[in-house]
Amino acid sequence: MKLIQVQDYQEMSQKAAEIVIEKIKENPQIQLGLATGGTPEGFYNRLIADHKENHTSYKQVKSFNLDEYIGLSSTNPNSYHYYMADTFFNHIDINQEDTNLPNGTAENIQEECSRYDEMIDKMGGIDLQILGIGQNGHIGFNEPGTSFASKTQVVDLAQSTIEANARYFDSIDEVPTQAVTMGIASIMKSKEIVLLVSGVAKAKALKQLIDGELTEEFPASILKKHHNVTIIADQEALSEYASKSDSTLRG
Ligand code: PGA
Repeated sequence: MKLIQVQDYQEMSQKAAEIVIEKIKENPQIQLGLATGGTPEGFYNRLIADHKENHTSYKQVKSFNLDEYIGLSSTNPNSYHYYMADTFFNHIDINQEDTNLPNGTAENIQEECSRYDEMIDKMGGIDLQILGIGQNGHIGFNEPGTSFASKTQVVDLAQSTIEANARYFDSIDEVPTQAVTMGIASIMKSKEIVLLVSGVAKAKALKQLIDGELTEEFPASILKKHHNVTIIADQEALSEYASKSDSTLRG
């Protein structure tokens, strides 16, 4: 894993956007894996600003999101379908039919999980996956204890995840308790991964990712086994981790 240390949230967002814009220039047909949550909002804002100023085009780009809540339709403002349209897709020139998220309202959710993995495989896989990390080390919605071999699946959200995400809902009782998420093995198939980490709330998780052991109790630890991971972390996120210079971390 490569670690890029930046000052703050703005710089993290800028750096991530620069990497992705460069990749789109190299390969206009890139297949992007995308994430939701608070962390990537600034990154999407910068991609939108660049699209408006420099006309970087997403016409040939395809996207695949990590996860969706079970039971929320795409018109629900708390769904990740809605988040992606509102935060990113509606502001760029990507074709709606080239954007993919798991369907959290599918009648047969098991079938939906297999469909999602098979579709990604059939289309040639994800070139670059943007990831966040949960305070408990989750990636996607793969909570501690998830098998490293997991494919796209239905998961029960950890209480800490429900609490962390309650800020987007009117009350904690409205936070769905289940989600459909790309599995750990599905995420690990991405050719390249960029992990964004910002804020003091993530400092313990980042330290554990860098210094801790490989264990299913800390899902993000699997990233040590991927050959092309770049972590972009700001100073608050790095506050529990001592090193001062950018580095390649031991796998
Ligand atoms: P956040 O979520 O960006 O809202 O902190 C990240 C995650 O839980 O993976």
